[in-house]
Amino acid sequence: LASIEVDLSPVKVGQAITVLWRGKPVFIRHRTEEEIAVAKAVPMTDLIDEYARNAALPEDALATDPNRTKDGHENWLIMVGICTHLGCVPKGQAQGDSRGDFGGWLCPCHGSHYDTAGRIRKGPAPRNLEVPVYNFVSGSLIKIG
Ligand code: FES
Repeated sequence: LASIEVDLSPVKVGQAITVLWRGKPVFIRHRTEEEIAVAKAVPMTDLIDEYARNAALPEDALATDPNRTKDGHENWLIMVGICTHLGCVPKGQAQGDSRGDFGGWLCPCHGSHYDTAGRIRKGPAPRNLEVPVYNFVSGSLIKIG
């Protein structure tokens, strides 16, 4: 399917779900206040990849936390769940997974660590996890693609 709709209402704060879109896993995490605060506090100079990698923004948009989410919906982080190194699926979605050194995701293949905004912070991956095109259709319903 070119686009899919996902109802976010069952996903509680701190929980994550993975949906399939165009054959790819898409990670949806309902971030906690702390996860958002930690992501916002990261100085841009600490980032390996300074770009937002958000399909809704210009290519040169910076990887600030707001540029990785949608205005008014910063609690939702929605990204293609494919490591930008060699394409493995990072861990961090399931309860009990290691989320790596930065509380986001950890790629088991070669140890790339992503933060709570899905930005690469350590390891061989060159780019932040990609944010696909999506929109809030109504209430908690989103359309990806
Ligand atoms: Fe993820 Fe290599 S594919 S670290």
